[in-house]
Amino acid sequence: MYPIAPPLLGWFYANRRSLPFRDDPTPYHIWVSEIMLQQTRMTAVLPYYERFMKTLPDIPALAACPMETLHKLWEGLGYYSRVHNLQKAAQVVCETYGGELPGDYETLLTLPGIGPYTAGAIASISFGLPCPAVDGNVLRVFSRLYCDEGDISDPAVKKRCTERVMEHQPPDSPGDFNQALMEFGALVCTPRSPDCAHCPLGEMCEARAAGCAEELPKKAPKKDRKVQKVTVALVRSPKGVLLEKRPEKGLLAGLWQPYTVEKECTEADMLAALTSLGLHCRTVSPLTPAKHLFTHIEWQLSGWIFDTDDTPSLPENMLWLNAKNRDYFALPSAFGAYRALIVV
Ligand code: ADE
Repeated sequence: MYPIAPPLLGWFYANRRSLPFRDDPTPYHIWVSEIMLQQTRMTAVLPYYERFMKTLPDIPALAACPMETLHKLWEGLGYYSRVHNLQKAAQVVCETYGGELPGDYETLLTLPGIGPYTAGAIASISFGLPCPAVDGNVLRVFSRLYCDEGDISDPAVKKRCTERVMEHQPPDSPGDFNQALMEFGALVCTPRSPDCAHCPLGEMCEARAAGCAEELPKKAPKKDRKVQKVTVALVRSPKGVLLEKRPEKGLLAGLWQPYTVEKECTEADMLAALTSLGLHCRTVSPLTPAKHLFTHIEWQLSGWIFDTDDTPSLPENMLWLNAKNRDYFALPSAFGAYRALIVV
């Protein structure tokens, strides 16, 4: 294979998007943007990124941020463990590295939530170090370039791809090369309908020559999600809508939600549970059944809207959401179908 760097970098310098973290690639900027981009599209990320940096302009600010504010900044992005790890790592960085990310691939890897991809992106883009940063874009590009039919979820295939990246990476511009690969994967060598007609690497692409670019990369089908029935009680009192805090570990850790039982419940079961909290309720109407997909679980939600006149003192993990406090609490997208009924 000819070196891909000259045509790839030429394409990148002519076609790259102007992005706030690309135009000011400090280690903190690259770190936060790459974590956001892990499960979320660029266009969706940009407004979150801007607001995040305005609110938390540096690592000490992130380390000290109250959890509810952090959740609010992340509300709608999902996968909240990402932002929990971001803060844990920021705290380690403040305690151990004087508030600045270490400029060393191996040390970056020791921080919570920083895996090989993120460590490689920070090390190469911000510190100019010769490291690989292999994400889904890069796996796709190299599977096609080498017409590699290996399953990209197989670690051996990822290793092979990483070695190929490093064979092509120019030592004087590792950061631009890695970004060029990601950008090329996002804009030209796309998962469906890649723009092979205008590809700057077309002459070298073995998959294009074999006519199978769009069939690559190969990936084993995902396992089916486990279905979980979830019953929601939307309790309205004169003080607002009842919320409860989820446990600090596990799915949606530490987030606030309407009163929820993670199994199928009858209306009578729900009314009895609420009564034991001192809430005597009347049923208003059933909730429209809804679905939410997590990575490994499918939630099937249903339940009821209840009204009550009771406003007893609530346990510490519960509160009434109302016009005065609603801007402080993030509602997970899993309850998005009921958002208009909850945040009033
Ligand atoms: N996707 C994830 N990270 C990216 C980056 N730095 N540039 C373009 N697309 C990306």
